[in-house]
Amino acid sequence: MAMSRPDLTVAVGDWQLANPVMTASGTFGYGVEYADFVDLNSLGAIVVKGVSLLPRPGNPPPRIVETACGMLNAIGLENPGVEKFIAEKLPQLRDYSCPVVVNILGESMEEYCALAERLDGENIAAIEVNISCPNVKKGGVAFGTDAKMIRELTRCVREKCHKPVIIKQYHPGHGH
Ligand SMILES: Cc1cc2nc3c(=O)[nH]c(=O)nc-3n(C[C@H](O)[C@H](O)[C@H](O)COP(=O)(O)O)c2cc1C
Repeated sequence: MAMSRPDLTVAVGDWQLANPVMTASGTFGYGVEYADFVDLNSLGAIVVKGVSLLPRPGNPPPRIVETACGMLNAIGLENPGVEKFIAEKLPQLRDYSCPVVVNILGESMEEYCALAERLDGENIAAIEVNISCPNVKKGGVAFGTDAKMIRELTRCVREKCHKPVIIKQYHPGHGH
């Protein structure tokens, strides 16, 4: 007798995911790099590596070291910038049915808002706002630890973007 498959669908507001498995931003590149290892169509959503308005070179190496309890990383949010991401990375993901969540990072409120506005018209499922990166001098955690700034940032991103918005906040004591 054929086993019935469990219903793994999840709703996040109005947004329906086939299952709750989403990749952690930055650990799964832009998704397609992993297509040989994982059926991308089977994921609930792919959360891509952080994207900024302009390209960022990231931190100088070494960026990753192995430790007795795992690994430490300080990539510094290297990425090609939002225009190149939209032109080159996003179209490759359109070959898959899996929803795409774009993780954004800015050094100012304006930059986050410009990114939200730019991505609003694109074929993506949601935006994830990275306010939790401890490895960069400006932006990231500077936003994530100030409640007033988080409120203002959330409001301005919400105004510019009509898709689901995920605020990814730093959690003190968390090993990010
Ligand atoms: C190599 C690496 C790169 C990452 N890059 C990003 C990023 O671009 N944007 C982001 O919001 N988080 C980034 N993260 C954080 C992860 O998405 C995740 O929040 C973090 O690793 C905590 O989850 P864990 O405890 O399961 O490792 C990165 C993490 C690692 C290890």
